[in-house]
Amino acid sequence: MHQESLQQIPRLVVLISGGGSNLQTLIDAIAAGTIVATIELVISNQPNAMGLARAHKAGIATQVVNHLEYSSREAFDRELIRAIDDKQPELVVLAGFMRIFTPELTNHYHGRMLNIHPSLLPLFKGTNTHERALEAEEDQHGASVHFVTSELDGGPIVIQAIVPVLEMDSPSVLAARVLVQEHIIYPIAIKWFCEGRLTLQNATVSMDGHNLPVQGMPYLP
Ligand code: GAR
Repeated sequence: MHQESLQQIPRLVVLISGGGSNLQTLIDAIAAGTIVATIELVISNQPNAMGLARAHKAGIATQVVNHLEYSSREAFDRELIRAIDDKQPELVVLAGFMRIFTPELTNHYHGRMLNIHPSLLPLFKGTNTHERALEAEEDQHGASVHFVTSELDGGPIVIQAIVPVLEMDSPSVLAARVLVQEHIIYPIAIKWFCEGRLTLQNATVSMDGHNLPVQGMPYLP
């Protein structure tokens, strides 16, 4: 997407399933003027997600699309597409959304859906990333922001933050160290997109017209 196509303030729709701390950092970055965008809607598949309260507090519209109420993944995704497209967002932000999409949905949002994943992709796709990094005795771990494609956690990477794995780490201690970095790199990537600097050209991430390396931009705290 080019700057001229983003002359209006970009509209975002954010999908969550849980605590919504990444949603909160986005709300805060917009409130501070660091990111110029509006969150048109927060959608949760979990009716009790704490992130819904964060959205309410910020005066943002919310909607629950509970996957348990749909007979198939296809039907659930069709309802998600309907709810998202109703807001005509430039960007869909996955912030701890814990459902696997159909290719129909990922193709529909090609180049305009970002996800944050708590690992140094392509390592540890899927769940329990912190446990698996410890089991593998990695000395580094981290988080990645990537464009969403039909391959689970496999889309082109925008930015990665690296943290050390320390000897006494438990999964929760390591997760907390990674989450601090998530709260830094996700707003950076969303800001780039909203400014029209970040695009997906076929399978390659482009930043200011230059292709990024496959590991995306490194962010070193
Ligand atoms: C974050 O660690 C995010 O990276 C992860 O869920 C957590 C959500 O936290 N996402 C995934 O694992 C997606 N596969 P939050 O609700 O506090 O933002």
